[in-house]
Amino acid sequence: MTSCVGCSCQHPHVSGTGSRVLLSTRVSHNLVALRSAVREVGEAVVELAPGLLEVHTSHPSALLTAARRQLSSVEAAEVRAVVLEDEEGDALLSTAFAAPTLAEVQARVEHADLLPMFADELSAFRSVYQPIVTLGPDADRPVIGYEALLRGTGPKGPVMPVAMFHAAGQAGWLHVLDRVGRTTALRDAAGWLGEALLFVNFLPTTIYRPQVCLRTTERAAELAGLRLDQLVFEVTEAERVTDIDHLSDVFAYYRERGCKVALDDLGAGYSSLNMLVRLQPDFVKLDKEIVQRLPEPVSRAVVAAVVEITHAYGGKVLAECVETAEQASAALELGVDLGQGWLFGRPEERPGAASQAVAGTVPSQAADALSTTRVDGNDRAVALCGQPAGALGEQSPGGAAPRGSADVEALVARAVDLCTVGVTIADATRPDLPLIYVNQAFEEATGYLSAEVLGRNCRFLQGPETDPDTVGGLRDAVTTGRDHVALLRNYRKDGRPWWNEMRLSAIRDHRGRVTHYFGFQNDVTARVDAEQRVAHLAYHDALTGLPNRAQVVDGLVRELARAERAGRRVALLFIDLDDFKAVNDRLGHAAGDLALTAAGARLRGALRDGDLLGRHSGDEFLAVLTDVPRDQVTTIAQRAADAVTDSFHSPLDVSGHAVQLGACVGVALFPDHGRDATELLQAADRAMYAAKATGRGRAVLARPAG
Ligand SMILES: Cc1cc2nc3c(=O)[nH]c(=O)nc-3n(C[C@H](O)[C@H](O)[C@H](O)COP(=O)(O)O)c2cc1C
Repeated sequence: MTSCVGCSCQHPHVSGTGSRVLLSTRVSHNLVALRSAVREVGEAVVELAPGLLEVHTSHPSALLTAARRQLSSVEAAEVRAVVLEDEEGDALLSTAFAAPTLAEVQARVEHADLLPMFADELSAFRSVYQPIVTLGPDADRPVIGYEALLRGTGPKGPVMPVAMFHAAGQAGWLHVLDRVGRTTALRDAAGWLGEALLFVNFLPTTIYRPQVCLRTTERAAELAGLRLDQLVFEVTEAERVTDIDHLSDVFAYYRERGCKVALDDLGAGYSSLNMLVRLQPDFVKLDKEIVQRLPEPVSRAVVAAVVEITHAYGGKVLAECVETAEQASAALELGVDLGQGWLFGRPEERPGAASQAVAGTVPSQAADALSTTRVDGNDRAVALCGQPAGALGEQSPGGAAPRGSADVEALVARAVDLCTVGVTIADATRPDLPLIYVNQAFEEATGYLSAEVLGRNCRFLQGPETDPDTVGGLRDAVTTGRDHVALLRNYRKDGRPWWNEMRLSAIRDHRGRVTHYFGFQNDVTARVDAEQRVAHLAYHDALTGLPNRAQVVDGLVRELARAERAGRRVALLFIDLDDFKAVNDRLGHAAGDLALTAAGARLRGALRDGDLLGRHSGDEFLAVLTDVPRDQVTTIAQRAADAVTDSFHSPLDVSGHAVQLGACVGVALFPDHGRDATELLQAADRAMYAAKATGRGRAVLARPAG
């Protein structure tokens, strides 16, 4: 057998443990961050060559940790670092550090024709613009904006956009092309865009630090005479987004500047529903595959879920690549707000005629699209909560001496009163923390007037579904004088429940004693409901509404652990419908879907309430019979299998058609046929196949293991 000698994958080694640390970067603001890390650990730094820093330190790991802390994950991936013992080879080291990979070098040779294009950006690149319209019942679909698409012309003529991005990716020039894409989109929109929105693509991985890397984009907008609130930045990462925090930072940066953000290709794989909930983009673009398969049931289910979640936080959903009137009306019917695709208009340079025609209607459409994009008051809550003790504490009742003029104090008090987040103040010097102030947003969120609540402890907002452990956390915080954040189920005066993300801040006097508590109430019901819906979608089959395979397997694993502890037994039924394919072939897939749902309902009716039933895949279902006494397992399992097969004796009604299905069942018992979930599933699956081999509507018990 041969083996690699000296290869790092065979002989992994840690970075050197010497005292000489060399750090190299090609990004100037990374250099600034690295210098600051060196200062942080109290060492001196020498710049050996441009972008190459040398530090002598007896604690290299402390320096590396400090440097890593200063940088985002994308920045850290750009910086090269080495820890050495000796002093030789600075120039060589500098070159080596900056060296691209072999793959990049080869791609640079192969795609050298991109270089003259980058050198003469203005004539080599241009943007074309595809209209985005509001979906409506009739043919009158006002344009609210345009997506900019980059086109390039090389020495040999026009370059296919896909080939251009692929070549740049291979050669390590994606960040250049991405920047060119953004600036060209803005430059070429000058003079004709009017008040419409401009959707501009970007790749989050090419942006190391938004504050620095996006300056050129802002400058281009300024030169083109475009306002930042007209711009919608769209993530077009075709791969998985690995650092959602980084993307979230980039989104936050754009939003702080007044821009909007969009998530593209939703449903294409990389962007999960969790990401949607986490990032809450202003616009969500449904993937081409999903849109073009409308009105098929599975696509409808996905679109309905995305629309529901996006609307819950105030975002808008856009269907891309709409090509037929049928796709457009299915999308509209499911609540999709906006459309883009050849049905509404192809990409054009300066869609001047169109923009003139809509010049009168666009502002209100765009304003409408923008005005409803965020419904919660998160941003304000953060701004307030960031500095309650310093800024508000100075004018709090009984607090330290006020700073600033009386005018400012009055203005601050008015701002707190009008702020859209609930603000409450409790007196910590009196028993049971009575409220001494609530603002208007609190009154609106809870339905209680200030006069009704002043003097009371805020626990009156709690009710039957308020989690006692969460309240316990609050109690600990007020007993020990700590700041705290809690997510609470609270109740309005009319009894309606809501989710309150509550921040508590302790306010101290000059001797450090807590005199007051500030509470900030933030209604996050839409977000929590959306998260719960996502969790439901993750564990339920969209078609039948039954638990999906993952949930049944989880339940089986839990049940096996319980049964082992209690000396009980578990039965697993693997159910496969007979003749289901014939339904699809004869009546079509839509009828097949209805038949599956009806079959699921039959199965549920055949089992005991406590038994767990779920859809495995296609026309296969799983049932876990729980709490089965030791000596009765065979009887109970047999009875359940018979009930399942019997439940199909009468035909199902599928849109007026009588559909005769049957079911074969494989039964496996714990521990007789398997000691864990995998073994039991395999045993039940084999038994189901044995049942199928004997005919329709049969049930077979698995063979004992071994
Ligand atoms: C300023 C302030 C605001 C509070 N706001 C809320 C609130 O909005 N919702 C809630 O359930 N509890 C809120 N609490 C917590 C309760 O008043 C109380 O401290 C908590 O229920 C724990 O104490 P207990 O076990 O004595 O009830 C707030 C407390 C303070 C001091």
